[in-house]
Amino acid sequence: MTTGEDQNAAIWRSEQAVGRWVAAGDEREAKRAAQWQLMADLLPFGSDQPFTLLDLGAGTGAAARAVLGSYPRAEAVLADFSDQMMAEGAGAMAPYDGRYRYVAFDMVTDPWAGALPDTVDAVVSSQCIHHVPDERKATLFAEIHSHLAPGGWYLNFDPVTADDPIVAAAWQRAADRADPGAAAKAAHRTHDEQTRYDNHIRHMAPLDRQLGYLRAVGFQAVDVYWKHLDSVIYGGCRSPEPS
Ligand SMILES: C[S@@+](CC[C@H](N)C(=O)[O-])C[C@H]1O[C@@H](n2cnc3c(N)ncnc32)[C@H](O)[C@@H]1O
Repeated sequence: MTTGEDQNAAIWRSEQAVGRWVAAGDEREAKRAAQWQLMADLLPFGSDQPFTLLDLGAGTGAAARAVLGSYPRAEAVLADFSDQMMAEGAGAMAPYDGRYRYVAFDMVTDPWAGALPDTVDAVVSSQCIHHVPDERKATLFAEIHSHLAPGGWYLNFDPVTADDPIVAAAWQRAADRADPGAAAKAAHRTHDEQTRYDNHIRHMAPLDRQLGYLRAVGFQAVDVYWKHLDSVIYGGCRSPEPS
């Protein structure tokens, strides 16, 4: 947990920070493509089935694109609170014009009603739930559950923290081996880099706690569907029985 003022909105609404994030897009997307595809593959739809997907904190729409690419009759609502990210996303999403729309939505402060569809068949989030404070993670997961159609799925691809410092150290050792320059870079961050890093970890939370939030609000089939060190895809589904 970091102290000081929350910079999340300022960072994601800054042309400079978004420009830097977008500039690294090709490398990042190549690294994460398999995970976004797995999220698409985990959904319980036939390849010709029409359904509505909600991508929360969609950014330039990487997770939604994997789903829309796998299910040609699916449509997507991409929710984000950054005009800058949504403007960048318009280019990346161009192949899916007519099958998606962006919605301005702050996951922490905005009410679902009126902004997002009352019922969706699937929800994904990628690399953004760690920007949401824990109290709101729990209530957001409850809202997702209550707006999913019976049998609908929620999948989240995100970094998590370890409860156990020995586990955290093991993750760090392996990460440092994979990227030998990372430790030196971390030790010499500029002020802006430190601000972005602090924002990155501020609300990052242990995996078990987040699985507990899902179970507590009624999700079934809660599992960690993929994991590498601190990076996970977890999720679950709403009961197929109408409530
Ligand atoms: C690291 S980017 C990930 C974007 C995309 N989901 C992906 O995986 O490539 C984080 C995204 O979350 C969005 N975000 C952060 N906090 C948010 C909030 N409170 N409400 C809505 N979007 C938020 C940012 O604007 C940004 O687009």
